[in-house]
Parts: sequence; C-alpha cells; structure tokens
Amino acid sequence: MKDLTPERDILDPIEIASIDEIRALQLDRLQWSLRHAYDNVPMYRQRFDKAGVHPDDLQTLPDLAKFPFTQKTDLRDNYPFGLFAVPRHQIVRVHASSGTTGKPTVVGYTRGDIDMWADLGARSMRASGTRPGDMVHVAYGYGLFTGGLGAHYGAERLGCTVIPVSGGMTERQVTLIQDFKPKTIMVTPSYMLNILEQYRKSGIDPRETSLEVGIFGAEPWTNAMRDEVEAAFDMHAVDIYGLSEIMGPGVANECVETKDGLHIWEDHFYPEIIDPETGEVLPDGELGELVFTTLTKEGLPMIRYRTRDLTRLLPGTARTMRRMEKITGRSDDMIILRGVNIFPTQIEEQVLAVADLAPHFQIELTRKDRMDAMAVRVEATPEAASDDAIAASCKTLTTKIKDIVGVTTQVFVGAPGSIERSQGKARRVIDNRPKG
Ligand code: DLL
Repeated sequence: MKDLTPERDILDPIEIASIDEIRALQLDRLQWSLRHAYDNVPMYRQRFDKAGVHPDDLQTLPDLAKFPFTQKTDLRDNYPFGLFAVPRHQIVRVHASSGTTGKPTVVGYTRGDIDMWADLGARSMRASGTRPGDMVHVAYGYGLFTGGLGAHYGAERLGCTVIPVSGGMTERQVTLIQDFKPKTIMVTPSYMLNILEQYRKSGIDPRETSLEVGIFGAEPWTNAMRDEVEAAFDMHAVDIYGLSEIMGPGVANECVETKDGLHIWEDHFYPEIIDPETGEVLPDGELGELVFTTLTKEGLPMIRYRTRDLTRLLPGTARTMRRMEKITGRSDDMIILRGVNIFPTQIEEQVLAVADLAPHFQIELTRKDRMDAMAVRVEATPEAASDDAIAASCKTLTTKIKDIVGVTTQVFVGAPGSIERSQGKARRVIDNRPKG
C-alpha cells in the first residue's frame, strides 16, 4: 500500500492549530449556536427556560453540561420542519432517515450548511488519502440518505472526478471500477464485502484494481474487518463517521497515516461523552454515549444531541483535534442476553478470526419459555476444504464467542451465499422475540 501521509501545508490550518486556539474558537461558536437555537427554535427556548438556563450562562465549555439534551424523538415530535432555525425558503436541501418505526427524521440545510458539509467532506477524504484530481467511486446510496450526496459534494469540493454510482447492481459496480479505474471508493463496509465477492465470482483479482483508498462508514465495523478488506484489495481502509441529525458523513474521520480512531472535526462539532443512564458528563477516555452540539449549523442547530453511539474520546494524534475510538455499537443494537451485554461488533471480530468462514453474519434472537437465546448464522467460504473443516470452524466460533461474551450461543454455518447480502447498511440483528 502506498504511503499517503499528507504534506502539512495541504491541511486546513485549524486541523493542526493549538488546543488553546481550537478551544477558544469552540467557545465563541458555542455561544453563537446556543443563542441561535434559543432565539429561533421554540422547542429550545421552552427547554432552556424550563431548565432555568440561558445562552448567556455559557461562560466556559464545561458550562454546556447545564443545558438539556436533545433526542431523536424531538425531531419526530416536531416533524417535519419544526426544529428549523431559519425561514423555510432559506433551506436549500432536506434529507431524511427512514427509521424502523414511525415518522422519518427530517433534517434541513441552508446554502451555508451545504458549503460547510462539502468542506468537511473534502477534509475527511483528504485525511483518508484522497487528493485533488483523483477519481472517486461513490457507492453510498443517493437520495434522502445523506451518504451519497454527502460524499459527492465532498469529493467535488476536493477537486475530484466523481462517479455517482449509488448502491446496488453489484456486477455493474465491478465493471465501472475496472473500466474507469478510480483510486477511491466510498461505500459501507458490508457492501464492500459484496463487491469483493463479485470480484471473486468474476475471476478478477481484487488486489489488481486501481483502488488505493476505501472510505467506509454508516455502520459499525471492526479493525478485524479493516485487515480483511485491506488484504483482499491491497488498499487502505479508513473509517468515516457521521449522522444526518448532525450533518451526514464527515463529522469525524480517520487519518490514513495512523488509522487509530476518528478525528472529530471539532471546529464545527463539540463532542461530549455521557453516562447513558445518568446523563452525567464523563472524562475523556471513558466509554459512554457520544453527544454532539453543532457549532456552526444554521438550518438545524443541534444542542447536546444524544447519538446513542457508544465510544470514548481520545487525545489528538495526526491532528490536534480529539479522536473518537471506533464505535463499539449503538445502544439500540446492544443485545442483552441473560444479563450480558453483547454488540454485533464483538461477534464480527470472532467470525473474522476463524478459518473457512466468510465475513458475512447475522444474529438471531429468539425467546423460549421466557429465556432469550441467540444464534449466530455464518457461512462457509467457497474454498472451505471439507464438511469436517466446516464443523471444526463452527466449534471454534462457538468457543470463541463463549470466551469473549461469556454466554453460549448456537452457531449455524450455512452454504456460501446463504446469508442475506447488504446493499447499504447491513442488518446484523434479527429479533424474533415476541414484542412487548
Ligand atoms: O449513516 C451518515 C453516513 C453516511 C456516515 C456515509 C458515514 C458514511 P444516518 O443514516 O443518520 O447517517 O446514520 C447515523 O449510523 O449514529 C451510527 O450509529 C452509524 N454510523 C455512521 N457512521 C459510522 C461509523 C449516516 N463510521 C448512524 N461507524 C450513526 C459506526 C456509524 N457507526
């Protein structure tokens, strides 16, 4: 793999500014953002008044802890446009997430917000190793999902040639990569596995492609998956994080030269980690729920938005801005099995560590006689030597899962292709337990 460490002079100066400079900028911007939300969004005014806080009460960054949280239900309760802080005609774009239940959450952007997003998309891609003039294959879905258009605008802003393929039609993805020879691909990690499989089916060596950088996000993925994809394609696999409520892809991104967690673009988003039970702010380094406050967003300012994503904050390395560790999982996706907390990422790590098993998996939850049970469905690789080898892999995986999470699970190894393939965000958990 090529060394893609950027020259310092191509970075935005703020990426490598001093901590003091960054904190001063954040305080200034945070005061603006709180006032903007208070003055223009009735929900924030009511909430702040009820909590007895006013934007003027923020004198230092830790003062933010006095302000109330915002949650996904607040967006739903104010559906569709009730949290917008500018007149509707100043909103130039909306995106929405479908969600599994109820109304979608709708987000809106001013011209300035789209501009900021493009800048941060470009910054994220540069951190990943992409450079002006490179060709970028975007296989995130286009449409209401922020992935496709977010990546697209970022790539254009960086000065790249964009191929807006969107998700699906995997055979065509391979043809286009072969014919156009892009250097960067942007796609969910689970869909990248799908593309990898298509390469193998077509008999083309994925290590021979033009791809040098993959910018993967929109769902949790592990370092074990990074190793798998990097080895398969002989390219860098870099993590990009974001969520529609805060902006979209590009809230945080790994640096290709370190791959040690995602630098949060702190000049636009102020992160906190809280104890999800008590709401108390935790010190850097502790695992908890990630909370973001937007510092510059005009259309939809978000104050202390609870992401449900679990991670920890770490000091800067390749950039001054703090890093977040790779996401362990969403609190919504946490499986509680006989009192033990389990995340799909823990299962992913184990599946990838066993020979003869493909990296595709699904977790099925059932309930019998008031007892919950978990089954892990995986599949054998087409190259798996024999039924005996597969049976041995099954046993190994069962033991590994038991060692890691402490509970016995059933493991089923199906034929190659038996696990549902992802077209975007993978569905890792199928909950067949009775509702209610
Ligand atoms: O998934 C935005 C995005 C698009 C990010 C493309 C990266 C690449 P939403 O659909 O609103 O937005 O979903 C946001 O996805 O709260 C996390 O739970 C999860 N997520 C996003 N990126 C990562 C990541 C987009 N790198 C939700 N690692 C977030 C783990 C991620 N989870």
